[in-house]
Amino acid sequence: MTMGKPPPPDIPDSRWRQSLRRRLLTWFRAHGRDLPWRRTRSLYHVWVSEIMLQQTQVVTVIPFFQRFISRFPDITSLASAEEDEVLRLWEGLGYYRRARNLHSAAQQIVRNHNAQFPEDFSVARSLPGIGRYTAGAILSIACNHKLPILEANTVRVFSRLLAFRGVPSEKDGQQLLWSFAESVLPRKHVGDLNQALMELGSEICVPRVPNCATCPVHMLCAAHRQGAQALIPTKKQRPAIENVTEAAIVIQRGGRVLLRRHSDQERWAGLWDFPRFATSPGQTAVSHQELIDNALQLTGMKIEASQHLTTMQHSVTRFRITLQCHLARYVSGRKQGDHLCWRAPDELEQLPLNVTGRKIGRLLVNLNK
Ligand code: ADE
Repeated sequence: MTMGKPPPPDIPDSRWRQSLRRRLLTWFRAHGRDLPWRRTRSLYHVWVSEIMLQQTQVVTVIPFFQRFISRFPDITSLASAEEDEVLRLWEGLGYYRRARNLHSAAQQIVRNHNAQFPEDFSVARSLPGIGRYTAGAILSIACNHKLPILEANTVRVFSRLLAFRGVPSEKDGQQLLWSFAESVLPRKHVGDLNQALMELGSEICVPRVPNCATCPVHMLCAAHRQGAQALIPTKKQRPAIENVTEAAIVIQRGGRVLLRRHSDQERWAGLWDFPRFATSPGQTAVSHQELIDNALQLTGMKIEASQHLTTMQHSVTRFRITLQCHLARYVSGRKQGDHLCWRAPDELEQLPLNVTGRKIGRLLVNLNK
């Protein structure tokens, strides 16, 4: 006998939803954290905070948010900044495409919307880096527009409240969870309810062992009733971790080193880095010839490879990378294009670098001391 998929749960009735709203709003007023972007209704502040909060935890975001807003207090100042400065302020938050999109959206808002963040959902959603969730979050929090949100925290909260056992990112799951998100919205205080749901997900209804004893809505929760909190939401198979070896080349000329900016198609689009390449599959050592050939291809410069500097390990998405860093001497060739630049190691603090580029840069400064 084959077992079909279990039918999706029904959305609970209006009395249940009313109770959920009341309990969450009361709890949020008493226990919601005092966060810098909650002290304002500024669309700009809420927008910046929501972009930073995508894929990043609140505690990490706070100092970055404060630095960013002090430097760029409004949309116009952000729009007129150099991209390098925006990326430098973002360094350490990761997912740099968010910063490039934020910057480019600010320029569009200045150009097309009189420097005011658009209050219309479809217009907001058409800006770079703003999808259904982010547009809903910004406009509900800053303007109380009645818009649902669905992100990692609320996916977990909703799946457990409903005891939904399907995969949330699949089509049926998305349909159910977005409908549910819409069905729980109040007429007033939409922003508070959406924030209460996210807060519950990040503080109480956490991934592995949720703290149901302090949850204001545990009596409404189907997963709690079934004792199935640990099984819900259903995890999707993650792609397997892959080990790869890459090499970075520190090309030295006089007291300076050569940096290369990642192109729009590369992993760290817009960030500066030491010229870097993937070694042939399965190969863990890097030959002098490979360094010479790749330096020529990436920078147009002829080099003499000299010595191994250090080896670093780091992870990006599903790749576990061993990065072999080598010193090399410049022989000949001219810098062509603004994706290359020569800098003394102690000048690198002004450039936005990826994490390993920053580590190598600081290592060079210390070697010169
Ligand atoms: N995660 C994303 N947006 C959030 C918000 N406004 N409050 C708390 N956590 C969040």
